[in-house]
Amino acid sequence: MKIKKAGLQILSIDIGGSHIKGTVLNELGELQIDYAKVVTPKPADPLHVINAIKKLVRSFPHYDKVAVGFPGYVKNGIIITAPNLGTDAWHNFNLSGKLTEVLEKTTKVVNDADMQGLGVADRKGFEMVITLGTGFGTALLMDGNLLPHLELAHHPVYKKITYDEYIGEKALKKQGLKNWNKRIYKVILILKTVFNYDKLFIGGGNASKINFALDKNIKIVANADGIKGGARLWVPEKK
Ligand code: BGC
Repeated sequence: MKIKKAGLQILSIDIGGSHIKGTVLNELGELQIDYAKVVTPKPADPLHVINAIKKLVRSFPHYDKVAVGFPGYVKNGIIITAPNLGTDAWHNFNLSGKLTEVLEKTTKVVNDADMQGLGVADRKGFEMVITLGTGFGTALLMDGNLLPHLELAHHPVYKKITYDEYIGEKALKKQGLKNWNKRIYKVILILKTVFNYDKLFIGGGNASKINFALDKNIKIVANADGIKGGARLWVPEKK
């Protein structure tokens, strides 16, 4: 891989329910170092998460800007909900402001699936990105531009059971691989019918556990590709 050093260096961080991952990217979204991770602290409140981020990036090379994907609803850098980390501790927390202060670099914070979406989408037509991890992340893009974030994770899919509960990490553990796959199959059928996406990308730690054949317009993507979205937050691709 050819690394282009010129231009902005962007620290890209993905805060997940189980791990916090980070790397430094160039403007093209190319990884300047292998991505590193630390276990998400417990409790995962702002103080502990910010300390974990400080620890994670301590030995990282220079960066100019920071991009963060957060597992909840984020409005203008402020956290509204954090279902898997604890909404009580996070509600109304100005994460972009705090990280700008602590890391001394301007920080943008968006929903984690939205950041992944920017990293993996082909920028052609109506694309949907879902992430299968602790929770169910979703992002919608039109020609590479993010559409308003929808917390589909909290929409009921069956009786009062939300997508998070139906196909999240806890469901995988409780239901086992076979039943979880049946559920994923059903969810993909729903998404196909409801959204009529041109292309669907599936990322997140559990994406590789899908064991049935997928339609031609569905692609499994790696976490390392998603984290590249951090560069697009700062340097939108020129058309
Ligand atoms: C949250 C989403 C998030 C997803 C993946 C869900 O529980 O509601 O905002 O994108 O988990 O982390």
